[in-house]
Amino acid sequence: MDEVHEPLFVRACRGEPVERTPIWVMRQAGRYLPEYRDVRAQTDFLGLCKTPELAAEVTFQPIRRYGLDAAIIFSDILVPVEAMGIPLDYQPGPVLGKTVQSMSDVDALRIPDPVSDMGFVMDAVRTFVSGMPQTPLIGFAGAPFTLAAYMIEGGGSRHYAETKRFLYDQPKVARALLSKLARTVADHLIAQAEAGCSALQLFDSWAGYLSRDDYLSFALPFTIEIVEVVKAAKPDVPFIVFPKGAAACFPELASIGADVLGVDWLFPLDEVDRRTEGKVVLQGNLDPCVLFGPKENIERQVQRILNEALHIKGHVFNLGHGILPQTDPEHMGALVESVKRLGVRRVPADLQ
Ligand code: CP3
Repeated sequence: MDEVHEPLFVRACRGEPVERTPIWVMRQAGRYLPEYRDVRAQTDFLGLCKTPELAAEVTFQPIRRYGLDAAIIFSDILVPVEAMGIPLDYQPGPVLGKTVQSMSDVDALRIPDPVSDMGFVMDAVRTFVSGMPQTPLIGFAGAPFTLAAYMIEGGGSRHYAETKRFLYDQPKVARALLSKLARTVADHLIAQAEAGCSALQLFDSWAGYLSRDDYLSFALPFTIEIVEVVKAAKPDVPFIVFPKGAAACFPELASIGADVLGVDWLFPLDEVDRRTEGKVVLQGNLDPCVLFGPKENIERQVQRILNEALHIKGHVFNLGHGILPQTDPEHMGALVESVKRLGVRRVPADLQ
């Protein structure tokens, strides 16, 4: 009877029976919400991340407003990068105070202790879990390739040209950097699970800028290392990997030991399921811009995605990337309402 007490979202991540498709949304706490903008007006973005009561408060906000099936702790993928010794600012996109260009720059990076150097994240996790114990909380980190891209470019980038130049000109230095990031990220994820997170997600937001060959060479091995280390320490905590744009590598990604594969909106879920041979639960995959259009179209597209997911191993509804700041909060409400009304009861094939 134990599983009756496990939340819907956690059971869906494991491919277990669910009474309805669960939903949460990447970047669900953020600037599209007026209550977020009110809290944010009190401090800058990093101040918000580093004040556990405020970080927990903005994590609660979308749960209170929409009754989502999971929360994601309010932080940023670049928090560990700052803890490694790179000054960080947001304007509003991230701006790094130094870039990594050589082996001596890699050697100078610290491997942070998650509890003493990023304890504010774990404090925010504990504050959330004690305030909303019924809602599963997702901890997260950026994948090594995406974090390395910020460290090499010094911020966001249009083409990631400097990052690619670095991979091709200095592959040994690149691997040393990616390896240091993998250790940092694995430690950070384990610490979030110890503090009370019920699931973990790895964001490889810029994976889609790499060719299949370069992804297999510079990104996948470090993602595998993280999944192995985290799963060895926390075997029961569902692991979601979100390699945005990396559909070319889905067959390989289905076999790395992650429970859930996050999918962007380019391919229908039934096709992704065929390419991953039903090995993983899929999360996604509504285009965030659909929320800009009329509610009837939001509902129609929700129904389409649920239909496409009907026979896959398991499904967690989400957008294919983060919700955009221009989104009307009412349209996010229409999305959640549609998934809750139309979401399907699911009994995995091997239990039928
Ligand atoms: O609900 C949540 O998901 C909130 C937690 C969260 C944030 N960032 C808050 C945030 C999460 C999970 C992230 C992850 C993150 N951060 C990613 C991976 C997800 C993705 O979208 O691919 C990336 C690439 C970053 C780096 C980053 N942080 C960028 C590019 C920006 C600027 C974004 C923008 O829209 O201007 C940030 C800042 C940031 N992180 C904001 C929020 C709410 C906006 C900052 C503000 O309030 O001014």
